Amino acid sequence: MAPRSIAIGSGAYLPEKVVTNADLAALVDTSDEWIQARTGIKQRYMAADGEKTSDLAIAAANLALADAGIEGKDVDLIVLATATPDNTFPSTATTVQAAIGMERGAAFDVQAVCSGFIYALATADNFIRAGQATNALVIGAETFSRILDWEDRTTCVLFGDGAGALVLQAGEGEGAEDRGILSTHLHSDGRYKDMLYVDGGPSSTQTVGYLRMQGREVFKHAVANLSSVVIEALDANGLSADAIDWLVPHQANLRIINGAGKKLKMPEEKVIVTVDRHANTSAASVPLALDEALKDGRIKRGDLLLLEAMGGGFTWGASLVRW
Ligand code: UT7
Repeated sequence: MAPRSIAIGSGAYLPEKVVTNADLAALVDTSDEWIQARTGIKQRYMAADGEKTSDLAIAAANLALADAGIEGKDVDLIVLATATPDNTFPSTATTVQAAIGMERGAAFDVQAVCSGFIYALATADNFIRAGQATNALVIGAETFSRILDWEDRTTCVLFGDGAGALVLQAGEGEGAEDRGILSTHLHSDGRYKDMLYVDGGPSSTQTVGYLRMQGREVFKHAVANLSSVVIEALDANGLSADAIDWLVPHQANLRIINGAGKKLKMPEEKVIVTVDRHANTSAASVPLALDEALKDGRIKRGDLLLLEAMGGGFTWGASLVRW
């Protein structure tokens, strides 16, 4: 039997500084009322000067390792999802690798913007299933505050900084009732790359650039792509929506989250929501939401989780996990 990836630990880290909607209304022509009504966001966290994506990732990784009861030297794979790496290279994953005292195996970044955590999870899961890794750290970490145009009210109010991490371990299991990652489903369609992008980069402008988004278009595609990938994940496992205990969605907009919940006919209390406090933390949003619901006791051993996300590229994906 091929190994199955079992989630054995989770950790999350948010920077100290809180930025409220009122703080942003002092910067750009916006209001708490507009931001809450259109997005559900009330506040976001922002990394301190000099606090890097790797710093957030290391903090989350150490908490996840402690939760799993293993040490950095036991890890043989790090897959870190970020669109805001410390540097163009080396990967932020290798900085985390050194910091946790892991001196073997492989560490690398994946880049799928807001879908990054699902992409990283799928990558690590496939390494474990193939027998190429035993203990994998899957991290989503971002400092989007560094790529926001603070004069553009249509984007700067939407994002926040943070990191979340999950430890996966090779184990045994079969079918939907046993613990572990049941399946992962990834998609992208590069025809839409100009709908959500950063207008800089090493090979194009030699600058870091700022995030640009056609919000309404992204919204439309998010709703359509998320509902199709969620059905795909359920069908692949012969499950219906009522089998899901918790929906752990990417936290971009409360209206998108509620739309996905309604499509699945899930009661609101089964949908994990952090967008009100975290805003959109891109690749960090799903593991941050997951960690919150684990630590406050909502998610319990044996629960079935549906993770989903959609982001620039476009990229989108979903995963079913028996906790
Ligand atoms: O994580 C990756 C995926 N990203 C997403 O899923 C984001 C998807 N998109 C969205 O969440 C929404 O489209 C937004 C929250 C970005 C925008 O909400 P919307 O309901 O689609 O608003 P809109 O873009 O249609 O703008 C409506 C109005 C415009 O004014 P006019 O043209 O109607 O006069 C905007 O200029 O709201 C204006 N507006 C603002 N007003 C106050 C845009 N941003 C702001 C703002 N404060 N911050």
